[in-house]
Amino acid sequence: MAVFSGSGNAMRAAGIVGSELLGSGRNVDAVDLAAGAAIPALDRGDVLVICSSTLGFSVPSVVMERLKAAPRSGGAAVAMLCVCGGGVKNGRTSGGWSGAASIVALGLLRRKGWKPVASADASYPQNWTQTAEAPAGADETALLERGDGDARTFGRAIAEGRGAFLRRNILTHTLGRLIGWIFRTVVRRMLGRLFVADDSCTSCGLCARACPATAITMRDGLPAWSLRCCACNRCINACPASAIQTSRARLVLVALANIAAMIAAGPAARGILQAAAPGSGGPFFGLAVFTLNIAVYAAFTALQIGPLDSVLRSIERKPALRRFFAAGHTKRFRRYLAPGFRPADRSSAMSTTR
Ligand SMILES: Cc1cc2nc3c(=O)[nH]c(=O)nc-3n(C[C@H](O)[C@H](O)[C@H](O)COP(=O)(O)O)c2cc1C
Ligand code: SF4
Ligand code: SF4
Repeated sequence: MAVFSGSGNAMRAAGIVGSELLGSGRNVDAVDLAAGAAIPALDRGDVLVICSSTLGFSVPSVVMERLKAAPRSGGAAVAMLCVCGGGVKNGRTSGGWSGAASIVALGLLRRKGWKPVASADASYPQNWTQTAEAPAGADETALLERGDGDARTFGRAIAEGRGAFLRRNILTHTLGRLIGWIFRTVVRRMLGRLFVADDSCTSCGLCARACPATAITMRDGLPAWSLRCCACNRCINACPASAIQTSRARLVLVALANIAAMIAAGPAARGILQAAAPGSGGPFFGLAVFTLNIAVYAAFTALQIGPLDSVLRSIERKPALRRFFAAGHTKRFRRYLAPGFRPADRSSAMSTTR
């Protein structure tokens, strides 16, 4: 089994799938992709079961990297459980949606000689602390039961060799693929840029050591987030002091910087071209403006996420400004980790469980 879990749901699901497989007399090995492990090499007759959180209708970018680096196989089977975020309304649970996550992941392995045999969703409490408070009490219990049931059904199906695939029509497939790609390419990086540690940070460094994407470095006793963030939300949920917030000030600044770049790129591109070739026009001029527009926007973006972000990080660390930059709605949100889950420490040896 290969597991990626930000806040413990996928780890819990993997445990249930594993017991179903053990119960059917199979041997089970598990590797923790979030702790740096690679997809193992398997032979025909073996089954690779991937249990992973779903982020933005996609597998996390870290899992995508591992899948791309996976060894070729001579026909080993592969099954995928997408661990989603569900909700509860009027006492009824509703499931999450994994978009095209399993289609993309299994397709990638198929091209490497693996044989996809099944895919399914399992819906657990959502851990999207940027947008909503995690379900608590009876709601949390109901969602854990729902997720455990989904995982058990999936595990049994694999054990009995009667796996089925998640079905998507052309519209949901295309939409899921597109949103998943946008999430992996842009959105996850944006979300990472919004994190700030507030005054309650104890400088313990756990967030940096446990980050599956090695996106956090401790600088002057405070965490700093890089663009490697895969948006798994482990840091914000696992911080023992609940010190990590989604910064309102950063949200506004990042949004403004992007809007400004979008507005300024066109006139800047036109101005550059007119200065280089005064009086030029025609369709080729329009195409040149369009191309340069994209280049100028990319340059603005690089500036904004590079040097300007470093300047912002140093400004927001000033004790007088920290409270302002760390203010945000997440301050009042409860954090969520699946019961009993302790994130693996990436700085210790690569974790392999049996
Ligand atoms: C940034 C982000 C994006 C998410 N996107 C989805 C999604 O597209 N579909 C879904 O069902 N759940 C989504 N979720 C919810 C998680 O997949 C869900 O809480 C899952 O159970 C987390 O598993 P884990 O505890 O193993 O990390 C998202 C969560 C986060 C933080
Ligand atoms: S885990 Fe929390 S308290 Fe520890 S360094 Fe990170 S933000 Fe600070
Ligand atoms: S920075 Fe936080 S949310 Fe981003 S990958 Fe690391 S632990 Fe996950």
